Amino acid sequence: MIILKGESMEPKLRLMIVDDELIVRESLLYWFRKYGHEIDTAASGAEALEKLEQKPFQLLFVDIKMPGMDGLELLERVKKEYPETLVVIITAHGSIESAARAMRAGASDYLLKPFKPEQLSLVMEKILSQQKITSDYHYVKGCLDQITRFENIIGQSPPMEKLYALILEVAQSDASILITGETGTGKELVAKAIHAKSPRAQLPFVAINCGALPDALMESELFGHRKGAFTGAEQSRKGFLEVVSGGTLFLDEIGDISAKMQVDLLRVLDDKTMFSVGSKTPVEVDFRLISATRKDLEKCIQEGEFREDFFYRINVIRVHLPSLRERKSDIPLLVDHFMAKYSHETTKHVDRIKSDALSLLTSYDWPGNVRELKNVVERAVVLSKSRTLAVEDFSFLGPAHAALSAPRTLKELQESHIQKVLEEQDWQITRSAEILGINRVSLHKFIKRSNLKKPA
Ligand SMILES: Nc1ncnc2c1ncn2[C@@H]1O[C@H](COP(=O)(O)OP(=O)(O)OP(=O)(O)O)[C@@H](O)[C@H]1O
Ligand SMILES: [Mg+2]
Repeated sequence: MIILKGESMEPKLRLMIVDDELIVRESLLYWFRKYGHEIDTAASGAEALEKLEQKPFQLLFVDIKMPGMDGLELLERVKKEYPETLVVIITAHGSIESAARAMRAGASDYLLKPFKPEQLSLVMEKILSQQKITSDYHYVKGCLDQITRFENIIGQSPPMEKLYALILEVAQSDASILITGETGTGKELVAKAIHAKSPRAQLPFVAINCGALPDALMESELFGHRKGAFTGAEQSRKGFLEVVSGGTLFLDEIGDISAKMQVDLLRVLDDKTMFSVGSKTPVEVDFRLISATRKDLEKCIQEGEFREDFFYRINVIRVHLPSLRERKSDIPLLVDHFMAKYSHETTKHVDRIKSDALSLLTSYDWPGNVRELKNVVERAVVLSKSRTLAVEDFSFLGPAHAALSAPRTLKELQESHIQKVLEEQDWQITRSAEILGINRVSLHKFIKRSNLKKPA
C-alpha cells in the first residue's frame, strides 16, 4: 500500500468534496487537510457550482447519489463550464455501472464506497500526475502567449500583423518616424517596440511629453543648461538630446509643441548639433527621432498651427495605428490579457467572462481605444464578486453601457422589444401577442426562431 508523504504532495491543490452526507465530508476534509491542501466542501451540486463560480478548483470529489442535482449531472455541468477542473466520482459498491457512465462523461477516476483513506491517496497520486499535465499545458499556453505578442503589444488581427511587419522594417532604418492614431491606440507602446527592434536597442530610449511642458521648461529639458544660465540654474545640466546619446528620442504629443520649439528642433535635426541654454559651444548629438500625435498635423499646417518644413522633417516614415473599432477581433484577446493582469495585481480569481458580456464589449465602439478597454476591465475585475464577469459587471459604464447593449440591427430591435413585452406580461403569450399586434401562433414561432427564453 502506498501512502504518500505530505512533502511529496506538492503542488498544493484546491479541492472540493461534494457529498450530502456530513460524515463523508468531514472525514475527507480531515484526510486532505493533513496534506496541506486547500479544501472546501459542498452539501449539494448547486452549492458546488456556486463555489466554483467564486474561485477555481483543480479537483472535485463528487458523490453520485445526492438529492436534487445528482453527481452525474454535476459532472456534466462541470465538464461543460469548468473543463479544467478534474472530477472524481464516489459511488456505492455495486453500482459500478454508474461509475462507468461517469468515466464516459469525463470523470478522471472513481472511488467505490466504502473506501479506505489509502485509496484516496492512490487516486490523488494519479490526479497529481494529471495536474502536472494541466500545469504543463498552462506553461505551453503561457509561451504561446509570448509568441502571439509582439514586444508588449497584444493583437493578432490582420491590421496588427501588418503593423508588426512595418515595425520590423522601419526599425532598421534611421529615418524619423511619425506615429499617428487615436488616443489610447498604443502609440507609446509602438515607439518602444520600434526602439527595441532597432540597432539602437541597447542605447537609451528617452521619452518627452511635449504637451505637458511649458516652453521654457521644455527647452531646458531638451537642450540642458549651463550653470547660471537663468535664475535658479545652480548647476549645469545635460539635456535629453545629449542624454539620449545614440539612442531613440521619443517626442510624444508633438502636435502640442510651440512654433519656437519647432524652429529650434528643426535646426538640431538639420545640423545634428545643438547649444545648451547659456552656452555658445556646439554639442554634437546623435539620436533617432520618433514622434507621436493624435492630432491631424496636415490640418494643423493648413490652419497655420504647425510648420510645414518641420512636419516633413519628422514625418519621413509614417506609422498609423488602427483604432480598436477597426480590429474588433482582438477584443477577446485583450480582455483575457487585462483580466489576467488585474486578477494577478488584485490577487482575485477573475478568469472567465460570459459570452454575452464579451459580445457587449465587442459591440461597443471604444472611442478611448485600448486604454478605455483596459480601464473598463480593471474596474470590472476590482468590483467583481465572482470569478466570471457578466453583463452586470459593466453596468458602471452608465449611459455608455446602455449604448453598449442597445440593439443595432432591426432584427435585434425586434427581438429586444418582443422580449421586453413578454417580460412585462410575465410571459403570458395571449396578452403579449395582443399588445404586439400579432397572433399567438406568430409569437410562438418568433420565440422559437429567436430562441427567446423565459428567465428561470
Ligand atoms: N495593443 C495593445 N496591447 C496591449 N496594451 C495596449 C495596446 N495598445 C495600448 N495598450 C495599453 O493602453 C494604454 C494606452 O496606450 P498608449 O499610452 O501607448 O496610447 P497612446 O496611443 O499613446 O494614447 P494617447 O494618444 O492618449 O497618449 C497603455 O496602458 C498601453 O499599455
Ligand atoms: Mg501617448
